[in-house]
Amino acid sequence: SFEQSLRPQNLKQYIGQDKVKANLSVYIEAARMREETLDHVLLYGPPGLGKTTLAVIIANEMGVNIRTTSGPAIERPGDLAAILSALEPGDVLFIDEIHRLPRVVEEVLYPAMEDFCLDIVVGKGPEARSIRIDLPPFTLVGATTRAGSLSAPLRDRFGVLCRLEYYTENHLTDIIIRTSRIMDTEMDDQAAAELARRSRGTPRIANRLLRRVRDFAQVRGDGTITAGLADYALELMQVDRLGLDHIDHKLLKGIIEKFRGGPVGLETIAATIGEEAHTIEDVYEPYLLQVGFLQRTPRGRIATQLVYEHFGLVMPE
Ligand code: ADE
Repeated sequence: SFEQSLRPQNLKQYIGQDKVKANLSVYIEAARMREETLDHVLLYGPPGLGKTTLAVIIANEMGVNIRTTSGPAIERPGDLAAILSALEPGDVLFIDEIHRLPRVVEEVLYPAMEDFCLDIVVGKGPEARSIRIDLPPFTLVGATTRAGSLSAPLRDRFGVLCRLEYYTENHLTDIIIRTSRIMDTEMDDQAAAELARRSRGTPRIANRLLRRVRDFAQVRGDGTITAGLADYALELMQVDRLGLDHIDHKLLKGIIEKFRGGPVGLETIAATIGEEAHTIEDVYEPYLLQVGFLQRTPRGRIATQLVYEHFGLVMPE
């Protein structure tokens, strides 16, 4: 599909995450030289940084198929057993949101990861016995926004741990230029840099803003994305100079206006702005913490001096 073709297909096309890329390329090359299956890989970090894309790239680079599922989609041990027994030798099994795997399913995964086998109980009552089924060797690629929520036994079974980080403006600019070329859209370099500045370090956001700005260029302009047009469109989309959106504003202004800048607990913030605490923690907070707008303390979240400056407000005493 078009969406799929936007994504880089190999490590060479993948922009940014230089440390992850450098290490992964060694592990992949070594596994290939030994004609072995790649060790299990855990990808963790904020949403939108390319965990799914990397899983596909790992499979491509290993020359194997990828089977994709997610933690919440696997409800019972039998669901996982069915997926595992359908794998071909060497395949990548990608489990997104792996921290949401039910505990009973996790327990089936341990022997599968460690010894490539399934222990299945057949029969009931006194007739019940356990049989062992061999599986083809495979590579589990797990993705999570919260490595801390993974149980220790599961985390310990991954041989490769990769932490994805927010992208630099330069890398995001390169990604935006690459995507605009694939979409066959004319764009000025300053427009790409402006979009990059306002994408919260996140390629998924960059590519989404790019598609919308392209719509404005087509309807309100002559099709070319200039810096002026990008600025005009981003303003209309309520994306501010630093890329903060409507919900970031609600969150930060809520802390300032209702709690004098904090500290205030996550659940309290969630209730006042009408978002799920988990969504705030996984999606909105990580970037605000990273750029120093929010601080976490044992007594709750605090809006920093930078937030007051950004909104042109004076910080109380
Ligand atoms: N599109 C989205 N993320 C990308 C990346 N890291 N490299 C190249 N293109 C991308």
